Amino acid sequence: MTKILVIHGPNLNLLGQRETSIYGSVTLTDINASLGKIAVEKGVQLVFLQSNHEGDIVDAIGKAREEGFGAILINPAAYTHSSIAIRDALAGVNVPAVEVHLSNIYKREEFRHNSMIAPVCQGQVSGFGPQSYELGLLAAIRLLKA
Ligand code: DQA
Repeated sequence: MTKILVIHGPNLNLLGQRETSIYGSVTLTDINASLGKIAVEKGVQLVFLQSNHEGDIVDAIGKAREEGFGAILINPAAYTHSSIAIRDALAGVNVPAVEVHLSNIYKREEFRHNSMIAPVCQGQVSGFGPQSYELGLLAAIRLLKA
């Protein structure tokens, strides 16, 4: 399987205009384009989903295996800190996942220090801005090829 599902959680559609002192000026389109270049180099296919709705993300994760995805790259955004439903979907689907964050969630408010999602992922990349996604994608490709 050479397909990777890339999931962007709530408010990441606003990147580039949202709290730029934290998240910078790069847009989601820019991030997806840079991931797309890596995918071409590495010979994998990416499918992107951005949703502000928890259930849409749960549905996409739940179908990932039957739709032929070999890995999931996810920035759950605010759902990182609250979503048992996304955690359970990842735990149940049997597709390896990598969690990414633009900001270092451990350097921020205390409520961001806990990730509901991290324990059901292979690993997490947090704090490198858009590069978190690139590093996370490289890790996901490793998992896919392992
Ligand atoms: C985020 C960190 C989350 O705490 C926050 O709710 C986001 C973005 C990040 O990429 O740094 O929306 O996931």
